[in-house]
Amino acid sequence: MGQGIAQVCAQAGCEVHLSDVSPEFVDKGMKAIEAALAKQVAKGKMKEEDAKTILSRIHRAPGSAAASGADIAIEAIIEDIAVKKSFFKELDRICPPRTVFGSNTSSLSITEMGASTSRADKFIGIHFFNPAPVMKLVEIIRGLQTSDETTRTVEEFARSLGKETSTSRDFPGFVTSRMVAVVVNEGFRMMMQGLSSPEDIDKGIRLGLNHPMGPLELGDLIGLDVCLAILKRLHDGMGDQRYAPSPLLVKYVEAGRLGRKTGQGVFEYPPK
Ligand code: CAA
Repeated sequence: MGQGIAQVCAQAGCEVHLSDVSPEFVDKGMKAIEAALAKQVAKGKMKEEDAKTILSRIHRAPGSAAASGADIAIEAIIEDIAVKKSFFKELDRICPPRTVFGSNTSSLSITEMGASTSRADKFIGIHFFNPAPVMKLVEIIRGLQTSDETTRTVEEFARSLGKETSTSRDFPGFVTSRMVAVVVNEGFRMMMQGLSSPEDIDKGIRLGLNHPMGPLELGDLIGLDVCLAILKRLHDGMGDQRYAPSPLLVKYVEAGRLGRKTGQGVFEYPPK
């Protein structure tokens, strides 16, 4: 997600400092952005010099120091609240007071992350969707202590990226992740029950309900580990059995079949 978010921001004219736990991950992200822009150029949808300008706005940056001069720092690291809180504590130490902190979390508590910093009023959920350059929405999640000013700043920022916004209260899964997790989980339940083949489950939903993707290919796109993490958060946070993860989804994650990013989830990538 970090790479897609960086691309969107650079395309909108922002200077972006892209960072990750190791320089190889940054290189991988940069290569993917280069490939995505090259595709746009090849299709005649972007001029080559514009692609070069966009790339020149993305600076590879080592560690969290990347955010030390930022107006907005957007985090898209692993979905682990302890790791995120310790990361934001570090950012809080090095960023100037004006920096707004945004988390791209799919389901974790914005309020809890904000409270781990000295600027809960400047902490907010900025939730992008995969693939970020294509998807039209940014979901904005206000923590309990997020200020009106921060909300306005981030709404304007998202609109400056060419995105529509919707807002949600800080509740497990917000609006979008809660819905998508249920859809993917139901696809896995159907697969486990042998109701239909994975291909036909997806085809039914794609063609019968006019969704752009079936639930199983959507799970593979999001990452099955991410889907499982959202369901666990919903299950724990709401205490409702309807969010209990399908045992088959758990097995796929245990097997390391996480979807597109590992080359295999319910389906194989590239398809055989
Ligand atoms: N990165 C960048 N661009 C991409 C892309 C990617 N991974 N995949 C497709 N695109 C671009 C293509 O280049 C193409 O662009 P142009 O129109 O400029 O040529 C455009 O998207 C359409 O692509 P395709 O024609 O190849 O394929 P498609 O029409 O089947 O669309 C799709 C692909 C946009 C992914 C579509 O299937 C879709 O909308 N699927 C649903 C995706 C979705 O629901 N995402 C949200 C998941 S939830 C989430 O992310 C949040 C969370 O926290 C869990």
